[in-house]
Amino acid sequence: MVIEVVRIGQRVVRDDRVTTHVALVSRGFGAERIYMTEVNPEIKETIEKINNTWGGNFQVEFIEKWKTVVKKKKEKGFKIVHLSMYGESINDAEVEIGNEENLLIVVGAEKVPREIYELADYNVGVGNQPHSEISALAILMDRIQKGKQFEKEFPNAKKKIIPTKNGKNVQVKETRD
Ligand SMILES: C[S@@+](CC[C@H](N)C(=O)[O-])C[C@H]1O[C@@H](n2cnc3c(N)ncnc32)[C@H](O)[C@@H]1O
Repeated sequence: MVIEVVRIGQRVVRDDRVTTHVALVSRGFGAERIYMTEVNPEIKETIEKINNTWGGNFQVEFIEKWKTVVKKKKEKGFKIVHLSMYGESINDAEVEIGNEENLLIVVGAEKVPREIYELADYNVGVGNQPHSEISALAILMDRIQKGKQFEKEFPNAKKKIIPTKNGKNVQVKETRD
């Protein structure tokens, strides 16, 4: 399953940290790419540094219009999953979504355009209370992959964590410069 994420909108400056965290959750929970409008180019640099140290090839792609990405992905057979507190319960939708081939997950920042509800194949609520795009994304990605995302290797990492009950165990790859 290929998973990609698109974030619709961003409140300038105020949302930088949240947007970075949406990207970090996407990467850490097994998505291959995130699309977002270019509000702050530093977010891309931050994620590139993370890839460089911790491995993998997660991509941040700046876009002009979210609708173009959604329509293009639909044409390519991706199913569009829009996270919204108004959507159907994740408890009811998770199995069907987990069986899909490729997914584009859409999260909002502030009020999302009405159109996304119609373009989406699934409008999914992680509970029906307002919370956060970061938590909604993490829970959806965990439910549909059933924790398997944490077994995935991040290739070419300079640092790799060896899970340990106490303290920190980090394997550092020798580099010949
Ligand atoms: C801070 S919320 C803003 C919601 C906005 N008030 C609205 O009516 O669309 C930002 C994003 O978090 C996600 N979100 C928040 N609560 C959610 C929930 N209970 N279930 C699914 N997604 C949620 C949605 O993607 C939403 O667009």
